[in-house]
Amino acid sequence: NKKMNIAIDGPAGAGKSTVAKIVAEKLSYLYIDTGAMYRALTFVAMRVGLNLEEGSQLIELLKDLRIQLQHEESGVRVFVNNEDVTAAIRTKNVTSNVSLVSSHEAVRIEMVDRQRKLAENGHAVLDGRDIGTYVLPDAKVKIFLTASVEERARRRYEEHQGKGILSNFDQIKKEIAHRDKLDSTRAFAPLKKADDAVEIDSTALTIPEVAELIIELAKERA
Ligand code: C5P
Repeated sequence: NKKMNIAIDGPAGAGKSTVAKIVAEKLSYLYIDTGAMYRALTFVAMRVGLNLEEGSQLIELLKDLRIQLQHEESGVRVFVNNEDVTAAIRTKNVTSNVSLVSSHEAVRIEMVDRQRKLAENGHAVLDGRDIGTYVLPDAKVKIFLTASVEERARRRYEEHQGKGILSNFDQIKKEIAHRDKLDSTRAFAPLKKADDAVEIDSTALTIPEVAELIIELAKERA
């Protein structure tokens, strides 16, 4: 009687969140962006000037933070203690420090506890790095979504172009590869394909194609 949850893990920029949103919408599931939770903590910790190497300070801060993922027509908005941090958590500064913050075991344990509570009723799509391996080892559908680092950087670059953000392709590629390395080599709950996850390489697939594959799997296993 496993609850029907969908875990989508994979490296940075593989399209997890875009795909997860579509899947959740089509199945009327709840979308839970776990990366946004680590980003929210990173943003506040940097603003108050914490030393991000210190897990004990981060966990003290986190205990006082109510992180909410609010679903609106325009998309998911992220709030920390009622402050809208949706845009603030996507800055370069946060992106380059989030892997350090999320590497602390105590921080992860608290985050995972919150994530499990959000998913406890089932019918949720979670995207992250350790959902299939650690957060929800019993998830009925586990996806490991990848794409070549070249393709992931290209997508991110185009996204930036579209938003009018000045960026450099080689720089983006380097940052993505670096973040993957930090996330997959940390000691506790690293980025890793679960043994029973279905790997989807999206390099040559469109977002709707990937979403459709996952929806089919979910229907088969429901
Ligand atoms: O998914 P996103 O790129 O927003 O995640 C930001 C960062 O948060 C990741 O690079 C990783 O360090 C951390 N993260 C994590 N575990 C998750 C989700 C995100 O460690 N389940």
